[in-house]
Amino acid sequence: MLGSFGTSLNIEGIKNNMAKKTIIANWKNHPESLAQAQEILDFTNDYLDSLGDFRELSLVFCPPFVFMEEVAKILQMSHFEHEAFLGAQDIAAEDKTALTGEISGPMLKRLGVDYVIIGHSERRWKLGESDEVVNHKLKTAIENGLTPVVCIGEKVRDGGFGKFIEDQVLKTFKGLGPDQIKRCLIAYEPVWAISTNPGAKPDTPDSSLESVNIIRDVLIGNWKLEIRNLPRVLYGGSVSSKNAADFLNRKEFSGVLVGGASVNKEEFVKILEITSKIK
Ligand code: PGA
Repeated sequence: MLGSFGTSLNIEGIKNNMAKKTIIANWKNHPESLAQAQEILDFTNDYLDSLGDFRELSLVFCPPFVFMEEVAKILQMSHFEHEAFLGAQDIAAEDKTALTGEISGPMLKRLGVDYVIIGHSERRWKLGESDEVVNHKLKTAIENGLTPVVCIGEKVRDGGFGKFIEDQVLKTFKGLGPDQIKRCLIAYEPVWAISTNPGAKPDTPDSSLESVNIIRDVLIGNWKLEIRNLPRVLYGGSVSSKNAADFLNRKEFSGVLVGGASVNKEEFVKILEITSKIK
């Protein structure tokens, strides 16, 4: 069981399988107790069990740091073994500098973490994380052999949103080579669509693909990335069982990043059920 968990070979396999959809559960600072976290995982595990040999779904759980060790154990001991990976919500910008309160890349690796969310809008806009810090974290994640899930998204959908996205992409990926960029996942997450923001409503696939095209054009234009090497893109922002299929049915989206709905076990399993039916 341990063999299939935490090996870069396995992740590469998933990356190369374009049909496989990735669902990332960003638990943020929830749930309140380990018992509740276990309930979500047990419920999800029972659902995966019911799918039998189905392997077209890849799950990444990003719990708060306090639950990580326990979640890692659960992911190694159950039906999760083939389809679930451990992700972190953040990483210290430097491995060696003393940084009170931070968790370093080598610590994450030792816990069995494979993915790390970089530049989430709550960190950028609520906690004041600058593009420069996001860029450092991205480089540190790559140096530690983690797969970065790089969040990109405009704050408002106004006339300048294209320029905003272009600027954010340039600053976030600054100094990285094409080989490093192609190893990332990009989560397009318009800030105004994140469920906890006032007046939030999900984006639509057509409108979010306009932004995805801008992201791809910047990567092609500035890093000369070939189309086949472009990072896979996920959508995030108020994903629920009502709209998941709209995004998952589009070949441009390799999956979804789910926040609020990922700590509601019934709703999360509904999203997985929808994913399992995508052709
Ligand atoms: P949401 O969160 O699904 O609750 O909108 C997504 C995110 O913040 O990553």
